[in-house]
Amino acid sequence: MPGKGGIFLPACITFSLAMVFEVNLKTRSFSPCLEVVPGHSYRCMELNLTRIPSGIPNTTQTLDLSFNPLKILHANYFSAVFALRFLDLTRCHLWKIEDNAFTGLNSLSVLVLTGNPLQILGPRAFHNLPSLQKFVAVEANLFSLAALPIGHLTSLQELNLRHNHIDSLKLPGYFSHLIFLQHLSFQLNEISSVSVGDLDALATRNLTLVLSRNEIKSIERNAFAGLHLQQLVLRGCFEDSAVMQASIRNMSGLHVNSLLLGEYRDITRVGTVDKTLLDVLCDLHLQEFTIIEMDFLESTSTLSACLNNISMVRVIHTYVSEDLKYPNNSNISQLEFKNCGLDAVPAKHLSSLTKLRVLRITRNKDLRYFKQYFRGLHNLETLDLSVNRLVTHLSWVDLLEGAPNLKHLNLSFNTEIKLEIECSGPGKLEYLDFQRTALVSPGIVPSFFCLHHLLYLDISYTGTTVIAQCSFCGLHSLRVLKMAGNGFANNQLVDNFRNLTKLHFLDISNCQLKHISLSSLTALRELRVLNISHNKLLGLHPETYVHTPLLTTLDFHNNQLAALTEEDLKNLPASLKHLDLSENLFDCSCDHAGFLRWVKNSSSLLRNVPKMLCYSPSDLKNVQVMDFALASCAINTTTVAVSVTVVLVLIVILILCYKYYFYLYYVMVLFMGNRFSDEKETVYDAFVIFSSKDQEWVKQELQQPLEEELPYFRLCLFYRDFIPGVSIITNIIKEGFQTSRKVIAVVSDHFLESRWCNFELEVAQSWQLVESKASLVLVVLQGVDKAALHRKLGLFRYLRRNTFLTWKDRDFSRHVFLRQLRSALLEGKMWTEDELRLMSKNG
Ligand SMILES: *[C@@H]1O[C@H](CO)[C@@H](O)[C@H](O)[C@H]1NC(C)=O
Ligand SMILES: *[C@@H]1O[C@H](CO)[C@@H](O)[C@H](O)[C@H]1NC(C)=O
Ligand SMILES: *[C@@H]1O[C@H](CO)[C@@H](O)[C@H](O)[C@H]1NC(C)=O
Ligand SMILES: *[C@@H]1O[C@H](CO)[C@@H](O)[C@H](O)[C@H]1NC(C)=O
Ligand SMILES: *[C@@H]1O[C@H](CO)[C@@H](O)[C@H](O)[C@H]1NC(C)=O
Ligand SMILES: *[C@@H]1O[C@H](CO)[C@@H](O)[C@H](O)[C@H]1NC(C)=O
Ligand SMILES: *[C@@H]1O[C@H](CO)[C@@H](O)[C@H](O)[C@H]1NC(C)=O
Ligand SMILES: *[C@@H]1O[C@H](CO)[C@@H](O)[C@H](O)[C@H]1NC(C)=O
Ligand SMILES: *[C@@H]1O[C@H](CO)[C@@H](O)[C@H](O)[C@H]1NC(C)=O
Ligand SMILES: *[C@@H]1O[C@H](CO)[C@@H](O)[C@H](O)[C@H]1NC(C)=O
Ligand SMILES: *[C@@H]1O[C@H](CO)[C@@H](O)[C@H](O)[C@H]1NC(C)=O
Repeated sequence: MPGKGGIFLPACITFSLAMVFEVNLKTRSFSPCLEVVPGHSYRCMELNLTRIPSGIPNTTQTLDLSFNPLKILHANYFSAVFALRFLDLTRCHLWKIEDNAFTGLNSLSVLVLTGNPLQILGPRAFHNLPSLQKFVAVEANLFSLAALPIGHLTSLQELNLRHNHIDSLKLPGYFSHLIFLQHLSFQLNEISSVSVGDLDALATRNLTLVLSRNEIKSIERNAFAGLHLQQLVLRGCFEDSAVMQASIRNMSGLHVNSLLLGEYRDITRVGTVDKTLLDVLCDLHLQEFTIIEMDFLESTSTLSACLNNISMVRVIHTYVSEDLKYPNNSNISQLEFKNCGLDAVPAKHLSSLTKLRVLRITRNKDLRYFKQYFRGLHNLETLDLSVNRLVTHLSWVDLLEGAPNLKHLNLSFNTEIKLEIECSGPGKLEYLDFQRTALVSPGIVPSFFCLHHLLYLDISYTGTTVIAQCSFCGLHSLRVLKMAGNGFANNQLVDNFRNLTKLHFLDISNCQLKHISLSSLTALRELRVLNISHNKLLGLHPETYVHTPLLTTLDFHNNQLAALTEEDLKNLPASLKHLDLSENLFDCSCDHAGFLRWVKNSSSLLRNVPKMLCYSPSDLKNVQVMDFALASCAINTTTVAVSVTVVLVLIVILILCYKYYFYLYYVMVLFMGNRFSDEKETVYDAFVIFSSKDQEWVKQELQQPLEEELPYFRLCLFYRDFIPGVSIITNIIKEGFQTSRKVIAVVSDHFLESRWCNFELEVAQSWQLVESKASLVLVVLQGVDKAALHRKLGLFRYLRRNTFLTWKDRDFSRHVFLRQLRSALLEGKMWTEDELRLMSKNG
């Protein structure tokens, strides 16, 4: 049975694996398309398909069938993929779309038919698309709007008919049903004229109409009258300025929020815009006017009064002279010159625009000078001079005198700006952006001292080195300070932000910081975002977090942090939502097990977790911190615990062994004695145990009389009879107790003091009990301490089989003693023949 099961199990596993593989293979081979989002989005681009592949699930919402030779769309062509929202049929060789081709696509929002040579469209071709918002038929061989049956697309918001052959702007009546239409593009068609009535269907539609790159030759007077458009784009529409001017004049009565007029960089035919051209704008009702890719006026003229009522004027990629004058009574409130070839800020002339609220002069490659300041621009709130080449000495006094209500000043991405401390009353500046412009002097002096209302200061990458502690003094209201890519004296942050108590956002990334003192951040109690990435910090003082209780984002990536300490973790503010600790030098040793455990449990808080890599120990280098096996630390602690316990137990055992050394020996002796007792025959009459200090006495008083006088006894004396090279304990057992009939213990003070003698005595006593063999003769010498004697010998002195003798150094006593001793030894003695012969000879 077990043999059978053993074969069955692997077979089963193999089978299941094969099934899984098979299923996988099937779903793959089912559809040749790329599964962008499973069950949701499929890309079947350029696969030589002639129909929808059957493997596309009916839940698919996004389907790209572009570059396949579908050619004809029959009725119900897409009924299998009824959930589609986005359908791309770009360049599908479609020439015929039959009625009801899209039936069932109730959710379709975007239909792209770009690049198809459409010839036949059934009158109901686009029926049943109730949700379609965007219809793109760029380059679709369309010749007229009347032949495009889209009147039922009532949800349509954007209709892009770029690059077709449409030659008439006569909008069919169905446009009046497309009430959500916002964007209508006829760019690159063949519309040459616009007549009255053409656009009637748009009547009050608020939409963007793009007519760029149509060769417009005539616009009938009032063709646009009464229309209200959101935006009208007319780029590259006119063959010369005369046609342009006449056409725009004929557009009078048009209300359009934003008019974009101009050309393309590579196609310029009108060239310059002159005063008369702009004068025709007087008959249009505009809020915004943008002119793009043209040349502006002759140098000394005045801007057309027809722009006066336009609140926003933008001039893009169009040459403008510094000497251009501006009307005194203009209503222009926003003016932008982007990439206009200016080489100085025309502050003096611009000062005529007293209603100016926003002025942007950006991306002028030659703009270096800002010498003259504005005068009397009381409404100016935003001045954006970013992305120019300004090299200037900025005077707060002069700037804020001419534009006292300035709130936003953007001088970013310029060349070099010099700042000084000057105060001219309370400036109202709130936003100040100097990023990527070399700044001279801040950091050394408190250049921003007077800007009490400043909320936002960006001096990122301005080459500033903060030396003075008071560099940011006076910025009482500051909420955002961005100063990435600068430096601090000694690469340390010490108290530089003391008075920035309102700060919400601080970016001091990339500042080569090695240390941030606790006191430099303690004042920032409102701080929400702290970016200290790309520095050389080993960590922050753990108390820092206590002083920033509202912190939500801390970016600490790319520093030299080894781990957060237990105290750090304890202090992290509860409000913290984003913590980026990636690209640090993590120490993944078990010393930081607490931190590593915390990391594993904090994936919702931590950002860029895959980039949190171990740096040490070397065998874990570049392992993701998240993948660190905490279990290895647990095992280690158990091992440590076990080893410590083992060592402790061993120590205890050793101490016990040392303390009860003799008793252990004793147990062993008992055990060994038992085993060998039968093997040895009796050789000695008595085994004498004594302290080596009493050896002389033993020789004199025992050995001599007992061995040399009749009757002869044989004593076992360690100094004579023990076999050298054998352990003492073996000698005691084998030579002493086992081969002797009796044991004589010579009890003296030395004896009582010696642990060894005591041990021998105890062995002898137990021996007696176990073997009932050697009986003990206790010889107590003169002057032995009575109390000690009692304690040591205890009851044994009273045992019947024991002989208890006392020895006194007197002839008579000695005689009695020897007699008693001899008789004790004679008890149970069996004389051998040799002994008897020897005795009779001597006797
Ligand atoms: C596309 O498929 C057709 C048959 O459906 C085949 O004749 C043609 O060679 C294929 N073209 C390519 C480029 O594979
Ligand atoms: C969608 O396809 C699944 C199988 O892929 C099928 O079970 C389901 O009935 C289909 N839904 C509809 C509405 O056809
Ligand atoms: C016109 O449409 C634009 C968005 O296309 C919108 O911002 C604007 O408010 C609309 N104007 C009117 C008058 O509806
Ligand atoms: C302007 O309209 C008038 C009257 O409809 C017409 O004669 C003239 O040709 C139009 N000009 C242009 C440039 O279309
Ligand atoms: C400017 O608009 C006002 C009404 O808002 C109008 O009275 C005035 O004539 C317009 N001025 C110009 C030059 O178009
Ligand atoms: C500026 O606007 C005001 C109010 O809309 C208007 O009365 C005035 O005529 C306009 N000025 C010019 C020069 O159009
Ligand atoms: C604007 O007014 C100033 C005097 O306030 C005058 O010198 C200047 O010529 C005027 N500019 C124009 C274009 O009328
Ligand atoms: C300043 O201009 C730059 C470049 O145009 C832009 O990126 C930045 O957001 C602007 N600053 C502010 C505060 O608007
Ligand atoms: C900084 O603030 C402290 C107290 O808030 C104040 O006494 C000190 O004058 C301020 N320093 C500067 C330079 O504003
Ligand atoms: C912090 O600054 C670095 C570089 O200076 C930047 O890449 C990162 O996106 C910033 N982090 C946050 C949270 O803004
Ligand atoms: C893991 O985190 C949750 C909250 O995010 C906390 O309640 C739980 O105690 C944490 N567990 C450990 C082991 O730290």
